[in-house]
Amino acid sequence: MRLNQNILLLGKKVVLVPYTSEHVPRYHEWMKSEELQRLTASEPLTLEQEYAMQRSWREDVDSGDLIDSPSECTFIVLDADKWRAQPGPPEESCMAGDVNLFLTDRGDPTLGEIEVMIAEPSCRGRGLGTEAVLMMLSYGVTKLGLTTFEAKIGQDNEPSLRMFQKLHFEQVAVSSVFREVTLRLTVSQPQRQWLLEQTSHVQEQPYRGGTSEPL
Ligand SMILES: CC(C)(COP(=O)(O)OP(=O)(O)OC[C@H]1O[C@@H](n2cnc3c(N)ncnc32)[C@H](O)[C@@H]1OP(=O)(O)O)[C@@H](O)C(=O)NCCC(=O)NCCS
Repeated sequence: MRLNQNILLLGKKVVLVPYTSEHVPRYHEWMKSEELQRLTASEPLTLEQEYAMQRSWREDVDSGDLIDSPSECTFIVLDADKWRAQPGPPEESCMAGDVNLFLTDRGDPTLGEIEVMIAEPSCRGRGLGTEAVLMMLSYGVTKLGLTTFEAKIGQDNEPSLRMFQKLHFEQVAVSSVFREVTLRLTVSQPQRQWLLEQTSHVQEQPYRGGTSEPL
């Protein structure tokens, strides 16, 4: 998605970078896990399909048809401690997960659906998921004009349910068919203030000097 293709967001525990071809092999390895497939409601892809997926994201960028109406914003989540020890490429060894915003409702451009995955087991439970979500919410509010966020989470996914509830998301629907809960955060002025305070340390930098990576 054009808006975040060349930016890097530097937080305390995580660094968010655009999804590039360099990240595909590790991402593909993660998604072989049946547990992660179940928790993220994802279908397994072949490595070639995963590269095609990443390229189509770039091609959307180049076609320019999403400038005013982005449909998806994806960042790879890097472990900031590892990244600080070795900033820049290769980033594969710093990868912790990903975080996405989907603008699914064309009738309501202020609504975004958020997903997050901290895939590396050694990176879980250290606050990386929380900071990645906060940074993405702040990005959505300040850069994309979003005011409502939804998260669809499996009924039994206790870690994710707890994390989003700690971030002030509230349950608005339950689908017994999909065994899924919808949580929502509506960002009015106090929540906006809170969000900006939580992310006031975040720095935005050009990603690799703003140049596109080779495909
Ligand atoms: C859910 C997930 C993103 C949490 O990320 P994380 O970095 O491990 O979480 P954090 O360290 O930021 O923890 C935030 C809060 O989440 C809750 N939480 C995290 N792990 C938990 C666990 N294993 N059990 C219960 N609650 C947990 C806690 O409330 C925690 O706050 P606390 O540390 O003050 O108790 C991560 O476990 C994950 O990616 N799981 C697999 C994929 C997935 O389920 N994605 C969500 C689909 S939308």
